[in-house]
Amino acid sequence: MSVIELKDVSVTFHEGGRTVEAVRNVSLNVDKGEIFGIVGFSGAGKSTLVRTINLLERPTGGRVVIDGMDITGLKGADLRALRKKIGFIFQGFNLITNVTVGKNIEFALKAGGCPKAQWRERIRELLALVGLENKIDSYPSSLSGGQKQRVSIARALANKPEILLCDEATSALDLETTEGILALLQRINSELGITIVFITHQLDVAKRIFDRVAVMENGVVVEQGATFDVFSTPKHATTKALVERYLGIAVPPQLVPSLPAGTIVELRYKGSTALEPIISQVAQDYGVSINVLHANVEYFGSQAIGILIVLVTGAGEPLVQALHRLKTHVFGYRELDRGMLSVAAEAGQGTETAGNEEA
Ligand SMILES: Nc1ncnc2c1ncn2[C@@H]1O[C@H](COP(=O)(O)OP(=O)(O)OP(=O)(O)O)[C@@H](O)[C@H]1O
Ligand SMILES: [Mg+2]
Repeated sequence: MSVIELKDVSVTFHEGGRTVEAVRNVSLNVDKGEIFGIVGFSGAGKSTLVRTINLLERPTGGRVVIDGMDITGLKGADLRALRKKIGFIFQGFNLITNVTVGKNIEFALKAGGCPKAQWRERIRELLALVGLENKIDSYPSSLSGGQKQRVSIARALANKPEILLCDEATSALDLETTEGILALLQRINSELGITIVFITHQLDVAKRIFDRVAVMENGVVVEQGATFDVFSTPKHATTKALVERYLGIAVPPQLVPSLPAGTIVELRYKGSTALEPIISQVAQDYGVSINVLHANVEYFGSQAIGILIVLVTGAGEPLVQALHRLKTHVFGYRELDRGMLSVAAEAGQGTETAGNEEA
């Protein structure tokens, strides 16, 4: 069942005579109990879109339906009741700095109409959930970034929401702290059954926790589906760019100038299919030599995408046929330009020269 339905949602801003169509005719459904992700480059409209779910941003077109109820026009007490169902956390934590951790959560309980007699117990419960029982009387300024984000999660859960919206909740944190926050959010999702909508530009976060993902560009959702499918077989240029940027071409820079002549090819496989058998078969059948320069496996949930960068050396028609055979027997194939590769290696990132062709 869909707990969130966005139907043809648009948000247009007017700013000093200028019109910005931040979100354009977006339709998507989020199922109850899933972790749904939104990825895209800066300015794509991710935050604006997610803020329509609790009407922090009112759509200028389309409908927002929560639990089967059209909420687009809600006001006053009805809107406040809706917002109790939907928690929100941000990159910047947004804690009140001049009161304690306990008070920060107490304010949320009070705003949500929780009876005063239950505050103490509920605060203790929430802080235990996020692993900060001993910080109840601390001030936010004395906490680390990860601890601040835990407090803001506790606060967002104060009124037992059904949905938690997270806007770049881990972007300000280091890798290890991010890992802890993601594990906490996964636990909240599975143990409390809270549906999570999570915005990020970090693909390692996306691949780690999203069940499904939508890719946004220029106000539009350009692609959506199961996370592994979207990232293993990116169709839209934006998704391809995001995946490329993440996976990169990691030929060791010092290797590039000294590589012997030949064609440098990036091969990909999906799931458990290995590439070694096809490589040795092609080398044998066409008398070419194939050297592996780099190998990488990335896991999306429990599924793998493997990448091999190989140098194919040979000449004439056998070489052409060998490359054709590889191209038609692997999941992803592209030839890399040597000149670009050394520039990319210096810049520490990958560059594409040929289109991504699938077998
Ligand atoms: N209140 C506003 N008034 C005018 N324009 C706005 C407003 N909020 C957002 N925009 C514009 O809408 C577009 C989408 O912004 P949004 O913040 O949703 O992008 P985003 O995908 O979340 O980007 P980022 O990854 O940088 O957070 C941008 O062009 C932005 O400048
Ligand atoms: Mg944003």
